[in-house]
Formats: sequence, structure tokens, C-alpha cells
Amino acid sequence: MLTDRFGRHHDSLRISVTDRCNLRCRYCMPEGKVDFLPRREVLSFEEIERIAALMMRLGVRKMRLTGGEPLLRRGLPVLVARLAALPGLADLGLTTNGLLLAQHAAALYDAGLRRLNVSLDSLDPETFNNLVRDSSGRGLRRVLDGIMEAKRIGFRPIKINAVAISGTTDRELAQLGRLAREWDVEVRFIELMPLDSEGRWMRHSVLSARQIVEALSREVGPLRRRAVSPGDPSPAQEYEFADGCGRIGIIASVTEPFCSRCNRLRIAANGRFRYCLFALEDLDVRALLRSGGTDEEIEHAVRTWVTRKWEGHQINADEFIRPPQPMHVLGG
Ligand code: 5AD
Ligand code: SF4
Repeated sequence: MLTDRFGRHHDSLRISVTDRCNLRCRYCMPEGKVDFLPRREVLSFEEIERIAALMMRLGVRKMRLTGGEPLLRRGLPVLVARLAALPGLADLGLTTNGLLLAQHAAALYDAGLRRLNVSLDSLDPETFNNLVRDSSGRGLRRVLDGIMEAKRIGFRPIKINAVAISGTTDRELAQLGRLAREWDVEVRFIELMPLDSEGRWMRHSVLSARQIVEALSREVGPLRRRAVSPGDPSPAQEYEFADGCGRIGIIASVTEPFCSRCNRLRIAANGRFRYCLFALEDLDVRALLRSGGTDEEIEHAVRTWVTRKWEGHQINADEFIRPPQPMHVLGG
């Protein structure tokens, strides 16, 4: 088991398969030219598989592929099939912005993927384009088509991630709440975190969990808290509308941090191993892999690194320091 000094067990690994993205969401990436990692600095599928197998020997049971935009990684279904075949893996998921989903959903499903999180911050084309800086102007339509196609093929669960931004998401809540009811998908609101590469985050731009619940109850219908099984480390507060139709999740990373229950670890696209999205240090697993490290050596290094995990992120502390690498490299 990967256990840290605070007694947290880690059984969940997020793997970023690319730092590239076909969007430029304001809360994540700068608008202009971005220097993406050269190909050789990104982990190969073989390297990812080796890390995944090794992490499973250390107790990891859930994995999620992220990016950047993971569907930009060529041959992704091949990696999915190999990971899905790992004996003992309880859960494999993918987080995508959905632009290329309609096109790739069938291959991913055939490769064994079932769980999907699709980012969708707004159902209003203008707000959508403005938030994610979609130059095609057809982004929203493509994301919705992607979700529909994924539903048709049979993905389950499908969760919609909406970053909750004060002054913007307030106007989107009712529509997104209704989407949860009508499409039978869980809509998860994620409090805006200070991860934008330009450092523009401000506390007052966070739309809080409390504000979200109040507004949804008022505008769509009363919500009730869903019971979670004891020991469930899910970061989301789970709700459903009182008539039993439509699920809402809220990830209150800023106003109600869940660090004390955190069971997650991450591998960034460049092979850096991290114990927290906001960690200020990381372990260069890629260097260990490429310099001929044995499984035992890498397992030892990983285990030791986990014992360095801090108690929690410092977003609410005066001395908050932004992570050294941008979100699209670290992995969402
Ligand atoms: N705050 C909160 N969530 C974010 N994401 C990206 N940047 C931020 C941020 N600054 C989320 C997006 C996406 C996932 C990959 O990460 O919602 O769904
Ligand atoms: Fe791309 Fe995701 Fe960042 Fe948006 S949040 S720019 S979709 S990596």
C-alpha cells in the first residue's frame, strides 16, 4: 500500500498522456503560442504501461487518463486496451474536453473503456467559445454530439465537469442542472482553482459549493445529499434532485478542501510523479525508467516519494505558491 505520513492510502492514479490541447480554456492555458513538450519528453505507451503495472503492485486500483486533451494522443485506444487488460484494475476512466469524442468513442469502448468525464462549462455557444477560446465556433455542438454518441454506445457513467466561476457559471447553473435531469448524466461543478497559467485567479472568482447548491435548489428544484458509502474517498459532494431525477456533484476544492481524504497520485505527461496537483516538487520517474532503473528501484522511489506528501494544498493560506508547471502538463 502507498501510505503517507497522515495515514492516507493511495489507490488512484491519474495519468496525463499529452500536454497538447485543442482548446485554450481561460482557467488553464494562455491564449497565445504555447511551448508543448517535444515528443521524446512525453512518456511512451510502453513507459506508461510499465508505470501502471508497477503502481498496481503498490496498491493502485483506479486509473484515469487525462491531458492536455488525451484524445489528441495518437493510438490512445491501444493504450486503453493494454491498461484495461491489467489484472485487478477496478476502474479505468478518461477525462476529455469532448471535441474529438464522437469520432473516437467507439474505438475507446471496444478497447474496454467505460467511464467518461467530459468537460463542459456552458451550454450557451457564446459563453462556451469565450471560456474555452474555441476558434472553430462549432465546439459546443461537437461536445454535445460527443456526449450523445458516448451515451448511445453505452459508456457509463458519463460525468460532465463544469468549472464553477463566479459571474459566469451563475448564469449557466439552471441549464446545466436541467441537462443532468434530461440526459441522465451527473453534472459536476468544480470550484475554480488557481491553476491558470497567467496567474489571474482571484478568490472572488470562485463560485462556491454553497452558492451552487442554493442557486440550483432555487432555479431547478430542491436538492438532497446522497448517502456515500463509508470510506468513499470521492472528492465530490453528491446530490440529487428531490424527485430522484438528476444527479449533481460538487467538488469544493477551495471552500471545503478534501485533502484529508485524498487518495490520488499523478503522473504528468513528462513522466513527473506528483502527490498533489499543487505539489511544489516532483519525482522524475521518466529519468528512472530511461536510465535502466529496475522495478524494485522505481517502486522504492515511488513509495518514498509518497511519504513526502503534505497534509494538503495551500490555496487558502497567505503563502500559497503556484505549482511550477501548468495544469495542461500536470494533468487535470
Ligand atoms: N480550476 C478547476 N478545474 C479546472 N480544470 C482545469 N483547470 C481548472 C481550474 N483552474 C478541470 C476542467 C477539466 C479538467 C481536466 O480539469 O474542468 O474538466
Ligand atoms: Fe485544454 Fe483541458 Fe486545459 Fe481546457 S482545461 S485548455 S480542454 S487541457
